[in-house]
Amino acid sequence: MTRTLITGGLVVTAAEEVHADVLIEGERVVALAGTGSDVASGWTADRTIDATDCYVVPGGVDVHTHMELPFGGTSASDTFETGTRAAAWGGTTTIVDFAVQSVGGSLRDGLDAWHTKAEGNCAIDYGFHMIVSDVTPDVLNEMDLLVEEGVTSFKLFMAYPGVFYSDDGRILRAMQRSADNGGLIMVHAENGIAIDVLVEQALAADRTDPRYHGEVRRELLEAEATHRAIQLARVAGAPLYVVHVSAEQAVAEIAAARDLGLNVFGETCPQYLYLSTDNLAEPGFEGAKYVCSTPLRPREHQDALWRALRTNDLSVVSTDHCPFCFTGQKELGRGDFSKIPNGLPGVENRMDLLHQAVVDGRISRRRWIELACATPARMFGLYPRKGTITPGADADVVVFDPHAGYPLSASTHHMNVDYSAYEGRHVAGRARTVLSRGSVVIEDGEYRGRAGHGAYLPRGTSQYLV
Ligand code: URP
Ligand code: ZN
Ligand code: ZN
Repeated sequence: MTRTLITGGLVVTAAEEVHADVLIEGERVVALAGTGSDVASGWTADRTIDATDCYVVPGGVDVHTHMELPFGGTSASDTFETGTRAAAWGGTTTIVDFAVQSVGGSLRDGLDAWHTKAEGNCAIDYGFHMIVSDVTPDVLNEMDLLVEEGVTSFKLFMAYPGVFYSDDGRILRAMQRSADNGGLIMVHAENGIAIDVLVEQALAADRTDPRYHGEVRRELLEAEATHRAIQLARVAGAPLYVVHVSAEQAVAEIAAARDLGLNVFGETCPQYLYLSTDNLAEPGFEGAKYVCSTPLRPREHQDALWRALRTNDLSVVSTDHCPFCFTGQKELGRGDFSKIPNGLPGVENRMDLLHQAVVDGRISRRRWIELACATPARMFGLYPRKGTITPGADADVVVFDPHAGYPLSASTHHMNVDYSAYEGRHVAGRARTVLSRGSVVIEDGEYRGRAGHGAYLPRGTSQYLV
């Protein structure tokens, strides 16, 4: 078994920061010992990675990606191969992607289709949530089976009527089921029925530019849906995870629920922390690059999101990586913003953008790792195999150089998309060496991984449920 030693770095987990060497045997971390200690000095290895002046952190866990998602008349431009490779470049070593049930189809068929897309193609480990588009009695039974086999979370949409949308009755039934089977319901909380009225009115008034995407998807309609989802979850006695929260008013709903002691959790994404409606209003058709749902909000919302990340009213930062090229894909919505495929690229940028928040004094180093690695792993039943560095954990380890600053750019990124939502933005540090289950994936500015190294991860139930 190959023995790998990572020496001289500052090991940062959600729990502690310690100058320690990390010993890896095969695919697992086997020991940590203080750098220079008698124990560490006695270790020998086949390969030694010098992490002096660097952080040694767990590989990122991104629990919200959409590789190859068919959406808006096209498909997300990253395959499992290109998207997981890009994730690795950015220090993320686990993704949880969304398999999709077709309307009228079974969960099993949807899940099988996503296994086929991913198997043999991933550079890093991956699991699946299940998008439930059609809640029927058979589907409710299937949910139990999926939880047993390791697909323990289900996304339901209060948005996108005619596509993924579920009405309140269907959502309630799914929540009731998850209250019994231990699954976690994730909701896309926007009032899609009301939004569609506003879309129709905007287009009739010739308001067709990308910025109107942000205007019709009103903050209050995110807050209202968030409130409604919380009440439905209370009625069902089920936990709830609200994805891609962007509006301050929605954060307030989650905070109020948490103050009542409810198992309600919120996730946000870097685009909501760093981008705003100013981007949606960029001249020409440039704003299309920033069309995603929930939409970007006015800049003022960012402070509320950062505050909630500090207070734990929001507890996970994922990417909602769902890239569409500007040329040929975003362009489908020229002259009609409602036809712009929804989604932003970001799987490669999340660890760096959140580390930037450490540099900017918004969060601590440990909170960075908690938000990007440990809590997502716990939330979705992967901890401590993923999300931390401890004996027995998978050796998904990143040597992160906090001084290797660089500008984010489409000309240098590895995502299969022709623009960067953060073009020219400087970040202070980046992943230097990335290991996935003990294998080097990124080193010396080169990709050394391979498609098919990434293994499917059956997951346990959420470790936050009491
Ligand atoms: O705009 C987004 N978020 N696209 C991906 C699908 C979703 O709603 O998460
Ligand atoms: Zn969504
Ligand atoms: Zn999404």
